[in-house]
Amino acid sequence: MPIQAVVDQLKNTEAAQLDRLCDWLKIPSISTDKAYADDVRKAAQWARDRLQEIGVDAALRETGASGEPGHPIVFAEHPGSASYKGPHVLFYGHYDVQPVDPLDLWKSPPFEPVVADGRITARGSCDDKGQVASFLEALRAWKEATGEIPIRLTILLEGEEESGSVNLDRFLNENKAELGKADFCLISDTGMLGPDEPAITYGVRGLAYTEITLHGPDQDLHSGLWGGRVPNPINELTKVLAQLWDEDRRVVLPGFYEGVRELTPEERKAWADLGFDQIAALRKIGLGPEADVGEKGFTAMEREWARPTCDINGIWGGYQGEGAKTVIASHASAKVSFRLVDDQDPERVTKLFKTWLEERTPPGCRWEFISHSGGPPATAHTDSPYLAAARTALESASGKHAALIKSGGSIPVVGLFKTVCGLETVLMGFGLDDDRVHSPNEKFDIACFNLGACAHANLIDELTRMG
Ligand code: BES
Ligand code: MN
Ligand code: MN
Repeated sequence: MPIQAVVDQLKNTEAAQLDRLCDWLKIPSISTDKAYADDVRKAAQWARDRLQEIGVDAALRETGASGEPGHPIVFAEHPGSASYKGPHVLFYGHYDVQPVDPLDLWKSPPFEPVVADGRITARGSCDDKGQVASFLEALRAWKEATGEIPIRLTILLEGEEESGSVNLDRFLNENKAELGKADFCLISDTGMLGPDEPAITYGVRGLAYTEITLHGPDQDLHSGLWGGRVPNPINELTKVLAQLWDEDRRVVLPGFYEGVRELTPEERKAWADLGFDQIAALRKIGLGPEADVGEKGFTAMEREWARPTCDINGIWGGYQGEGAKTVIASHASAKVSFRLVDDQDPERVTKLFKTWLEERTPPGCRWEFISHSGGPPATAHTDSPYLAAARTALESASGKHAALIKSGGSIPVVGLFKTVCGLETVLMGFGLDDDRVHSPNEKFDIACFNLGACAHANLIDELTRMG
């Protein structure tokens, strides 16, 4: 049985696998910050070189338009063995990472990976280099143990996922004939229900992200001389934003819920049966049971997985320095984002928000409105044979039942693969709730990394047996 040899190979080479991952994690591939553009490219080259080492034909593909270059995509293709009759897999992952601030909260430097206490700590260890590496290591183990990687494979590693995937839509459209030849897309960039509770994710939320500024007087003013005589942009901005939700914590934008798919009784039951403990989850982030708040009529899990939400992600204006300064600032700003579910459209929601703001423009003020890129929501069919294969592989690797879950997070490419290339995605991820992704001290449990490599190795085996 080749799979046994592959699994043994994975077990025998764990130290080398972690060394390789650490090398990748040392490259600060922060995509949103132009100062790191060279490092982002180095991280792409690193992945390309590792793929070439195991006989996979890989190259960098440039993105962006002239004058506005993007970060490269690592693109690889592999024909598989001559006798392979299974599906053509498109594996997607991202090699870019989030910024590391606030740096002083890190217990070890973010780009000096530490392997200790059963975990690997570094920016990108879980999101997403560690998870991509779990796939690359499965390929390598197949190659080393059997002499070949049997499956037909395309690999696309993005370098802009954490900065809004601004060039991805165009890349997919330009290459859709090639990409559309795949039968399904496989992504490892999500989480499990718990350390011993592996899961396949069948849906992610979409995102519409905006930035707004309310302008008032053309200069900052003495609040004693002017307070009460002019509109204060901070007062007015917060008054408007406070109206975004009603008593039931529903978003008030007219038409916002249009197209939102109702939860089916079957889904509600299946999710309730997962036994998720919201109160325990709240406790882990320093909150008591009274903090279980959200849209009325839905459980926490339902709110995260199947309901759209609105959050203010940042708000600023006026004096932020030490001490007191009696000033009326000339303007105030906020970052306001909406998490969306099928079948909401991010562009439509962005327009609804803009119109809603304009209708509430405080006297004497004007809005400046920026739409940052987001992405569509996506839900995959749970009866697909590829999802079944992934589930079987995950169960063989873990010896546990694999749950079917959704996630409240967003991975823009999932919706794009569907609309641009007609491809369904299977999300087999290995993160845990306490991995601190996007935060200081991001980590990935070594057990999760090993499970990922083993599950991917098993999935390759499953695919070779599909017609
Ligand atoms: N991998 C995450 C998304 C994720 C994490 C989905 C865990 C499901 C479970 C991804 O890298 C991410 O951070 N996405 C962003 C969206 C993007 C447009 C910046 C997000 O969800 O905020
Ligand atoms: Mn990610
Ligand atoms: Mn992320």
